[in-house]
Amino acid sequence: MSEAFDLVVVGAGPGGYVAAIRAAQLGMKVAVVEREKQLGGTCLRVGCIPSKALLETSELYEQSQKHFAERGLIMQGVSLDIAQMMKHKEGVVSTLDGGIQGLLKKNKVERFFGHGKLKGNGVVEVAGDAPVTLTGKKILIATGSVSTSLPGIQPDGDRIGTSTEAIAWPEVPEHLVVIGAGVIGLELGTVWRRLGSQVTVLEYLPRILPGVDEQVATEAKKIFEKQGLIFRLGTKVTSVMASGKTCTVQMEGAEPITCDRVLISVGRKPCTDNLGLEDAGVQKDNRGFIQVNAGYQTTASGVYAVGDVIGGAMLAHKAEEEGIACIEKMVTGHSHINYGTIPAVIYTQPEIASTGANEDALRQAGVKYKSGRFNFSANGRARAAGHTDGFVKVLADEATDRVLGVHIIGAHAGELIHEASVAMEFGASSEDIARCCHAHPTLSEAIKEAAMAVDKRAIHS
Ligand code: FAD
Ligand code: NAI
Repeated sequence: MSEAFDLVVVGAGPGGYVAAIRAAQLGMKVAVVEREKQLGGTCLRVGCIPSKALLETSELYEQSQKHFAERGLIMQGVSLDIAQMMKHKEGVVSTLDGGIQGLLKKNKVERFFGHGKLKGNGVVEVAGDAPVTLTGKKILIATGSVSTSLPGIQPDGDRIGTSTEAIAWPEVPEHLVVIGAGVIGLELGTVWRRLGSQVTVLEYLPRILPGVDEQVATEAKKIFEKQGLIFRLGTKVTSVMASGKTCTVQMEGAEPITCDRVLISVGRKPCTDNLGLEDAGVQKDNRGFIQVNAGYQTTASGVYAVGDVIGGAMLAHKAEEEGIACIEKMVTGHSHINYGTIPAVIYTQPEIASTGANEDALRQAGVKYKSGRFNFSANGRARAAGHTDGFVKVLADEATDRVLGVHIIGAHAGELIHEASVAMEFGASSEDIARCCHAHPTLSEAIKEAAMAVDKRAIHS
């Protein structure tokens, strides 16, 4: 059987399904090919959403165990039903999967189940329960990314796992070793620490969270250590072996660690397995990412790519923006993404959020900048809520005062950061933010004060 479409999208993650809907809105006849039963990609099935469900639940557990009594709330007999916690998480995922199915239907996007493979000349073969050949005037590859591992270390899907396993373990590990102090390691390490695991995080570099503003990462390490995470930096893992319920982690120049679970979180790589890229004339760069031009067009005519598979920040909202921009450019000839204002959030407690450049990047680029910082400990709302850790830092051009970057570590940083992204999108100066009235008492006042601190006129510090 063969069916013809204006656009065939391969991969129904945030990049793919959002692009499909936008294309349908703009009048295209669209097919989406996805090899998993559930839609929403890594993000919905095994990434953003399930990890946040576990972060939210484990935070409630920790609050009730350790912090309610400080406020005079006496809870007795709070205990953990891990099966119910996982059921709640799965319920969230399946509700949102249903939502995407409904959106595709509403927009008359046709869904095909199975592995998609490009055959060249606009043809995509779908090998599923009911194999089908699709032709598309245009093809969009949005196949995302998969976890990577280290040489000689093979995840076994049980004791030695990636994030996919670590969001579904049926019991709390006694001792969890996390390899990689990046975003996944810290988010999921935090989940299991809150639930009762001893968590040791091994990191190759001499710092945690590479890419995050150094002052923020240093503060984060201090706070996470106080919470109970154990960091061993500058550590090179050489092998991990599992035997029964025990894992042994070998490192260079250190005694091995024994533990009962290992999470490998050392990054992700583009997913292009058996995709037929060579047949279709689609080239990859030397790291395996699909090469695209400014309009997300690959080296093959009529074939486009967006999201994790083309590299850059591996973030769901970046994939979505690219999906929309790619389709709008394809149909209307115009599109725009300001990569300089895409926010990034790490959903630990406190949260860590940033938009724009950090101090390292500005120094390396030789940009002269000034900076203003305000600590949440001096913010009334943060005090009332008991969330006094962290600060806001605003970086602005020394000559023009234009905001170049905002970095926040603190409760709800992931919500607060959007004020900064919007301000930067409109080319705001730190004075612009400082002169906007912010409601009292709110955490957002810390952003205003940090902007005022750029010109040394913060009131509450
Ligand atoms: P994906 O979401 O990976 O979707 C690609 C889809 O293509 C998949 O469903 C796959 O099954 C399908 N596919 C692949 N090959 C084929 C084929 N040949 N045929 C048919 N289908 C195929 N990002 C955030 O912004 N915020 C977060 O909080 C966050 N948390 C995360 C937590 C974890 C544990 C992980 C692993 C990731 C997290 N991310 C987060 C990253 C985010 O999930 C990705 O950046 C995002 O999903 C990328 O979207 P995408 O559409 O490019 O690809
Ligand atoms: P990452 O790139 O964030 O961190 C990997 C860490 O592993 C780094 O600190 C790196 O130095 C370390 N590492 C690499 N090799 C090592 C080795 N041999 N030994 C010890 N440490 C080693 O990758 P991670 O955490 O796997 O996440 C992958 C992607 O998923 C990220 O790029 C992120 O964008 C995305 N993600 C986003 C989230 C969010 O937005 N909140 C949440 C989770 C994932």
